[in-house]
Amino acid sequence: MDQIAPAVKATPTLPDAQTVTSVTHYTDRLFAFRCTRPLSLRFRSGEFVMIGLLGDNGKPLLRAYSIASPSWDEELEFYSIKVPDGPLTSRLQHIQPGDQIILRPKPVGTLVLDALLPGKRLWMLATGTGIAPFASLLRDPETWEKYEQVVVMHTCREQAELTYGRNLIEALPDDPLIGELVGDKLLYYPATTREDGKYTGRITDNLSSGKVFADLGIALLDPATDRAMVCGSLAFNLDIKKVLENAGLNEGANSSPAEYVVEKAFVD
Ligand code: A2P
Repeated sequence: MDQIAPAVKATPTLPDAQTVTSVTHYTDRLFAFRCTRPLSLRFRSGEFVMIGLLGDNGKPLLRAYSIASPSWDEELEFYSIKVPDGPLTSRLQHIQPGDQIILRPKPVGTLVLDALLPGKRLWMLATGTGIAPFASLLRDPETWEKYEQVVVMHTCREQAELTYGRNLIEALPDDPLIGELVGDKLLYYPATTREDGKYTGRITDNLSSGKVFADLGIALLDPATDRAMVCGSLAFNLDIKKVLENAGLNEGANSSPAEYVVEKAFVD
């Protein structure tokens, strides 16, 4: 009699387990990975979830990560820093396709289009891995339907650290879903602070000095029409808030939409 082979099935052994499908390393400090998406997970582009691994003590070791993939994608994408002695990233950086991670399917966050009042020009202001939520929002048709112009300012120390965002932005015009919507609405301002490049300097300085407006040939900030989303380190977020408030923009939230919203980028 023929033996019937048992079906080979990846049985989740972790709570809320998802399977890693691909991993891309950009620098010795940065990597991105994709994983399966729980059927139950619905999210708004720009939100974050808790993800992680099982700790040595057998308990989940979780951190907040912005979802970098758009809400229509059948997989999930994350963009992460690697911290040599970071409790989670020192281990997470070694994941391989087929490995499991823990993902709590409860998305939250204020970096969403709903937390902004209607406007004409949207600024996405990111340092380092703060580009992650914008990787999601830039691939969401709603972003392009709601705004006449989208300006992406992404600043990192060195050129290589801009690669993830640059690849994503350069692929947008050819995207079958949103390529036509993007049209000529996108202005991209990638800058470095510790290496030369086309643009240099901190986002805060380039806004305050007026350099970015001159370089791109666009109008100064106007609270009647400009909206901003901010994601970066704590120090950057505090400093950019001052710049935006000086220009007359107020901070919004899900419950009270206004002219700008802020989220802290993942740190360890
Ligand atoms: P800088 O090189 O001048 O510190 P990090 O890798 O440390 O998170 O920094 C990412 C980018 O954010 C760097 O280009 C850094 O510039 C910039 N940055 C750090 N702190 C601030 C801040 N308070 N305001 C504006 N930009 C900042």
